[in-house]
Amino acid sequence: MKRPDNHILVIFGASGDLTRRKLVPALADLHKQELLPEKFAVLGVGRTPLSDDQFREKMSTGISEFASKKDGVPEGFLERLHYYAFNTKEGGEYEGFKERLQALDRETGSQNNFIFYLATPPSMYSLIPRYLAEQGLNKDDQGFRRLIVEKPFGRDLESALELNKELLGYFREEQIYRIDHYLGKETVQNLLVTRFSNGIYEPLWNRNYIHHVEVTSSEDIGVGGRGGYYEESGALRDMVQNHLLLLTSLVAMEPPALINAESIRDEIVKVLQSLRPISKEEVEKYVIRGQYIESQVRGQQVKGYRQEQGVDPQSRVETFVAMKFFIDNWRWAGVPFYIRTGKMLPTRVTEIVIHFQPTPHHLFADDEAIIRNQNQLVIRIQPDEGLLLKFGMKVPGAGFRVQEVNMDFHYSELADAYLPSAYERLLLDCMLGDPTLYSRGDAVEAAWKFIDPILQAWKEQPCIKVHGYPAGSWGPEESDDLIEGEMTWRYPCKNLSDGTYCEL
Ligand code: BG6
Repeated sequence: MKRPDNHILVIFGASGDLTRRKLVPALADLHKQELLPEKFAVLGVGRTPLSDDQFREKMSTGISEFASKKDGVPEGFLERLHYYAFNTKEGGEYEGFKERLQALDRETGSQNNFIFYLATPPSMYSLIPRYLAEQGLNKDDQGFRRLIVEKPFGRDLESALELNKELLGYFREEQIYRIDHYLGKETVQNLLVTRFSNGIYEPLWNRNYIHHVEVTSSEDIGVGGRGGYYEESGALRDMVQNHLLLLTSLVAMEPPALINAESIRDEIVKVLQSLRPISKEEVEKYVIRGQYIESQVRGQQVKGYRQEQGVDPQSRVETFVAMKFFIDNWRWAGVPFYIRTGKMLPTRVTEIVIHFQPTPHHLFADDEAIIRNQNQLVIRIQPDEGLLLKFGMKVPGAGFRVQEVNMDFHYSELADAYLPSAYERLLLDCMLGDPTLYSRGDAVEAAWKFIDPILQAWKEQPCIKVHGYPAGSWGPEESDDLIEGEMTWRYPCKNLSDGTYCEL
């Protein structure tokens, strides 16, 4: 595999959690695989004063705990880490930063190529690029200059438009890499391969053969120490606007003309632009919000959301969202999409379930389960990554009794089953100058356009209920009513093939 060109990766917000838990462990994994450039350094930037050694020490604990490859801190890696403390809110301090960066560039021989990673609070997303531009650090005539922006990208349509406008004032679109870490997941990318490299799925992948599509991303933890952030965000902004709409786009998109950044991102944006808007008046009917309340989970007393640190005891912020919507285009006309996400649900699972149309006539009509469940293709993003097809089979013996059985593939069965972490893949892609797995500005805006009326309705109509659900349950019962008729959500287990036992 080609190694990226020599460069320095500058991480703003380097004393924060994301750097220690995700970014540096991912870099250490890349180092182990010899995928980093020969001449490469990380310059961590933060307000907390730390020496290079203190920064390295802190990062080494992160690597031991969070790197995918569990064999400790790789040799020669820590020396690549450096730290520079300054107040990034002060434009006047960027001159000193630039001198430090240039000195490190000369020391490392990284050829004046820089990536700037914004792992800071969002309030800094336009300020830092502005000050970098004032120092000429956006100009890429001598070497490349790339900017990675973490989520959340805006908190509604207006702020996302504004942020895009500001960033584009300092960097060109090709230089901007907006992260949605779900696209970095191996199994999410496999969605494209499953769909577009197999002749059997694509002919069925439309309104004629698919009854409905379900996307679930559940978590079995609460908001933990992130109460303050979550109060400003809620599940709709935190998970739906980005990760879940992205998964939906990959399920629904047309085959791209080529596997390259523009073709793939063009198709993603077309899906987002085809989402049928949910008007403010329809929000109550199509979108269910909930909040976890205190409960016993596996014998342990668990706090409710309102008791979490940093959360208003009267908070109406949603920790669960389930919704139904349509994609108004030729392929999907009339096919409902159901998506849901929540904190403090029974287990951590992300999966997509394609429910195929039932047979036109039920020959073996006595079998209720089959009629209700139909054929399902489960695309498991995490954990127990894999694919599962559910279909009916004759129960051996007299008569024609039908039983549902599984045909499954698990990544764990592969001889070389190393799944790189999302950040590993995304960092490497940015280093290689490939933005395919990053969100383009127009896609982010289209997603906000769909989400905005829901946020507005919730703000303007407090009568729209926030349903309480006991921690450890599958969310408010009302979310079941979104799915018409006899059908329900699939209630997934940690193990993908849940025929004989269910592990939560
Ligand atoms: C993040 C959200 O984007 O995704 C978190 O801010 C959430 O609230 C996380 O826990 C889930 O990511 P993953 O990769 O664990 O599914």
